[in-house]
Amino acid sequence: MENRDASLCYIVAAGMSKIGKRGEDGVALFVEAFNEVANIIEPRDIEAIYVGVQSERYEHQIMYGALIAERAGLLMREAYRVEACAAAGALALHTAYMAVRSGLHKVAMAVGLEKMTAKNTEEVTDSLMSASDYYLDQLNNITIPAQYAMLARRYMHDFGAREEDLCLVAVKNHENALYNPKAHIQRRITVEECMNSRPVARPLKLLDSAPISDGAAVVVVASEDVARRYTDTPVRILASTVSSDTLSISQRRDLTWPRAVHSAAEKAYKQARLKPSDIQLAEVHDCFTINEILLYEALGFAPRGRGYLLAREGETQRGGRISVNTSGGLKARGHPVGATGLAQIYEIYQQLTKQAGKRQVDADRAIAVNEGGVNSTAVVHVLAV
Ligand SMILES: CC(C)(COP(=O)(O)OP(=O)(O)OC[C@H]1O[C@@H](n2cnc3c(N)ncnc32)[C@H](O)[C@@H]1OP(=O)(O)O)[C@@H](O)C(=O)NCCC(=O)NCCS
Repeated sequence: MENRDASLCYIVAAGMSKIGKRGEDGVALFVEAFNEVANIIEPRDIEAIYVGVQSERYEHQIMYGALIAERAGLLMREAYRVEACAAAGALALHTAYMAVRSGLHKVAMAVGLEKMTAKNTEEVTDSLMSASDYYLDQLNNITIPAQYAMLARRYMHDFGAREEDLCLVAVKNHENALYNPKAHIQRRITVEECMNSRPVARPLKLLDSAPISDGAAVVVVASEDVARRYTDTPVRILASTVSSDTLSISQRRDLTWPRAVHSAAEKAYKQARLKPSDIQLAEVHDCFTINEILLYEALGFAPRGRGYLLAREGETQRGGRISVNTSGGLKARGHPVGATGLAQIYEIYQQLTKQAGKRQVDADRAIAVNEGGVNSTAVVHVLAV
């Protein structure tokens, strides 16, 4: 789809709860995030609400569209839930983007939330596993961490990366989270500590893994003709794309090439009329450290098989050639699954509008990659001021 001037889409406000193990329920976390935007926009202008939630198993709740609209005091609007496991948040934004670009609505709100700690780790692992093919993967008890571990082993075998290289991603993202007051884990770690942390699914260890988090995020988008009513610094969505790959990794020819991410990114670069070297800032889906490295390659930041060298050479540190996961990423900002895609957009919005405080970088073009399943549904956004 070519960008037509009549229907450009801008982010005019974004809010996020503190991420972590929270006492509040999921909807209360939404209210915390919503309060941050309610002061900036006129809530009654919101014509549509799209909500990304991974699972009804944490709080035995569906019908999030109606529930969120009710709690926001926005009844009689178009309001419904979208689903793509960990990509649900970005998919909610994609839906809002389509609503604005089509001319159907002038102002729409994307919401993401998850209350994972309502269940224990075993139950969470089982719930996350429902994002795998039931017959091919779930019945064989192959958990999500085990699947990412297979990608890591294959990658290390094929390209010569070492476990320490994976840990460098965790060290970087933990360092960034120190400067993010809303991050789940604010603790500096070392490669040695990561290497010595307990195994989750070898070679992945505790400190290669995103934590189990609670949290919510909201992003409000508006058409060009009304965007400046709400803010002097609207952030333009240059591209919003989705691609999907096989659900089961057993059906893929190449385990270490996230084809859906590459496909969504190619479409996004074309829509945005940008190339990978134009990107200064990225929030990528580092649910396990190996994935951040795979995504460097799928996004064109590094040639195939050489993504780990970006981590080794510090090119993706805050202020480096491309600042990646300045928020702390899923690893340390936290990964409240349905909220994660919008937490990424929240960070980019903060950065592009120069509100990121001590973690501020100099950037005006950014990309976000959110994925569901094991790189099965990829959602890519390119944003600019
Ligand atoms: C890695 C994992 C299994 C650890 O869970 P666990 O073994 O139950 O760990 P606990 O909750 O008992 O936590 C033990 C300690 O480690 C810390 N911790 C837990 N997960 C952590 C993580 N990923 N990184 C750093 N520290 C972590 C806890 O804060 C806790 O510290 P404390 O004792 O000082 O409070 C769990 O976080 C997990 O499953 N993560 C992956 C989630 C996932 O797959 N997401 C979807 C991907 S798309």
